[in-house]
Amino acid sequence: MVRLIVDSARGSYPVIIGTGVHRELRNVIRRLDPSSAVIVADSNVRSLAQKVAKAVKPTGVRPSIYVVRAGERSKSMSALHDVLAFFERRNIDRAGVVIAVGGGTVGDLAGFAASVWLRGIRLVSVPTTLLAMVDSSIGGKTGINGTRSKNAIGTFWPPSAVVADMACLETLPATSYRDAFAEVVKYGVAMDRGIFELLQEQREQLLEGDSRALERVVFRCVTAKALVVARDERERGPRAILNYGHTAGHALEAATGFRVSHGRAVAFGMRVAARIALSLELCGPRLVQAQDELLTEYGLPDRSPAADPSRVLAAIEHDKKARRGRVAWVMPRRLGHAEPGHAVPAGVVRRMVRKALA
Ligand SMILES: NC(=O)c1ccc[n+]([C@@H]2O[C@H](COP(=O)([O-])OP(=O)(O)OC[C@H]3O[C@@H](n4cnc5c(N)ncnc54)[C@H](O)[C@@H]3O)[C@@H](O)[C@H]2O)c1
Ligand SMILES: [Zn+2]
Repeated sequence: MVRLIVDSARGSYPVIIGTGVHRELRNVIRRLDPSSAVIVADSNVRSLAQKVAKAVKPTGVRPSIYVVRAGERSKSMSALHDVLAFFERRNIDRAGVVIAVGGGTVGDLAGFAASVWLRGIRLVSVPTTLLAMVDSSIGGKTGINGTRSKNAIGTFWPPSAVVADMACLETLPATSYRDAFAEVVKYGVAMDRGIFELLQEQREQLLEGDSRALERVVFRCVTAKALVVARDERERGPRAILNYGHTAGHALEAATGFRVSHGRAVAFGMRVAARIALSLELCGPRLVQAQDELLTEYGLPDRSPAADPSRVLAAIEHDKKARRGRVAWVMPRRLGHAEPGHAVPAGVVRRMVRKALA
């Protein structure tokens, strides 16, 4: 078990990473000493929510459980309304606490609800997907989707604590588990070569879900994200490095109506970004090759997703309009180091996207 502290504008919070860490969760709740607690979970993690409720029982806090339907559609205004109505029925007051048990979907929804209920009550995050552990539970972004755009409505609301228990991952569907490694590779290429090497050295253990190996990887990713978030919580500069692989990745998701999973899309986006960097002589061929190999080893193969290149390019253009005419690409320079804010000639983008989808 390890514990690290993440700094944020609203104060720092502990992140506990371990396996079977019920006692630590209990201590977190004891320390927060809430008047009451609500667990927000989704229908696929109901039993994990019950386990969390049981784990905190000895503190005297008896959390009620609110279950939303699993899936991205629950990041909606109507789901938010229902969660808040539940808080109201349960008389959650300013000293209450929301415990989000689930992946990024539940985390974003429950975090947003916590941030607006009574102008903000405390939030404890219990991520149950690998993606939520290494990414969405850290950094304080919450939100729901607009009618047409993802994550359009949201707040910055850092949690009071995050408890990442590897035991939660045991029931995670294989695809969701594997696809999340795209984000882990992202940290390895863009920020921390040590993560890249850990992924190479511990591939078997990690793919089997070995909890020790997972703890190490989650710890390294949380540390990488925590460092950049502490410097730039509101994403005005350096935080953009976390978008490595996401420019073409998001465009692929949008162009395929989100049929391609986020992890697969990010893997595609990293392959495109690295090739752009190579053609602009910002990195060498060894980086491109090493990244390709690692992605393939983690079940994120170089198979072209069935997508119309013009649509993907149009989605990148759309992104450009949103940013006043400039897409800022994150370009890898060497393993473990990328730079945000690169302008790339449109012709190069077109060529690389078309090639990647050929
Ligand atoms: N706030 C942020 O900084 C941030 C960062 C990245 C992503 N996100 C958001 O996170 C969301 C994606 O998160 P995700 O990949 O965790 O998806 P998710 O929360 O939708 O979970 C994926 C699926 O796995 C199920 N599930 C979750 N935990 C499980 C478990 N332990 N056992 C069995 N099933 C389980 C869920 O019910 C769901 O069906 C997106 O909405 C994205 O916008 C937010
Ligand atoms: Zn992502």
